[in-house]
Amino acid sequence: MPEVHIPVLTTEVVEWLGPVADGLIVDATVGLGGHAAALLEAAPGSRLLGVDRDPEAVAEARRRLEPYGRRVTVVNRTFDRLPELLSELDLPAPSAILADLGCSSLQLDSQRRGFSFSADGPLDMRMGGDGPTAADLVNTADEEELVTVFWRYGEERRSRAVAHAVVRRRAERPLTTTSELSDLVERVVGRRSERRIHPATRVFQALRIAVNDELGQLERFLEPAVRSLRPRGRLAVISFHSLEDRIVKHGFARLQGRCTCPPDFPECRCAPLDLVTVLTPGPVRPSDAEIEANPRSRSARMRVVERREGS
Ligand SMILES: C[S@@+](CC[C@H](N)C(=O)[O-])C[C@H]1O[C@@H](n2cnc3c(N)ncnc32)[C@H](O)[C@@H]1O
Repeated sequence: MPEVHIPVLTTEVVEWLGPVADGLIVDATVGLGGHAAALLEAAPGSRLLGVDRDPEAVAEARRRLEPYGRRVTVVNRTFDRLPELLSELDLPAPSAILADLGCSSLQLDSQRRGFSFSADGPLDMRMGGDGPTAADLVNTADEEELVTVFWRYGEERRSRAVAHAVVRRRAERPLTTTSELSDLVERVVGRRSERRIHPATRVFQALRIAVNDELGQLERFLEPAVRSLRPRGRLAVISFHSLEDRIVKHGFARLQGRCTCPPDFPECRCAPLDLVTVLTPGPVRPSDAEIEANPRSRSARMRVVERREGS
């Protein structure tokens, strides 16, 4: 059901990137092509490079963006490899780059991809279809590693108890499906009616982040992306949870030349740079009307930087 993915903050993306998008636009997470189409419409003189790590999204985006013909190229790659991709394709410095992080509805709603606790499927969760699956992780990682994953990436308060239950359960039989894991988590952390969100939400989020190295991808993306921009080019990043937004906020502050070391560090270790101006004083959030029309947009936060001339 690809049509059901509604891109978030589309008006704001066009508002912030549209004015500079007269050259090459990079949509680093092209997904189903919603933002890409809006940017191509807003900037008729532009070309667009769409990037996605998911081959199914690439096929979908190519289909959706076909009407734009030779203005569009879509490539299957992770966005931490953007600079080499630009030189491989012999493309100019982009005037605008967008990254809309996380998963698309194409991924979340597909039972066989194993992202969702509300539909039974294989415990997979790989966006790109390569590397270890969520099942590999829960069945082989040692208990301490699982505690760290559930706590750090899911902020799950009962991470220790969940990790212990996983290790006990897999000693009998490996966990292979989403419902086996979600039932186990529900038994450990409590029933759904007692909690605001589904009891397995945090553990599933944590596994997805770990399986796809989502935070590592983001950390490796920001500086090279900014360095690839032409002067006065802009980078916009939309994040969906505080772990991502923190990386973007601190990453942008450092790229603007602000030290982001903890106050108790005796000397600066973050090596601030002088590459960008942060254009958004705080995160750009969706309007009430957008949240009502698309509840998934509720947690979206966008931050935008502009590359300084002469940097
Ligand atoms: C929220 S969706 C993007 C939706 C898109 N903006 C649209 O309008 O349809 C995020 C997409 O980013 C892709 N993605 C996530 N991390 C990625 C990475 N490190 N490199 C490339 N693509 C990534 C996912 O596969 C997914 O298709």
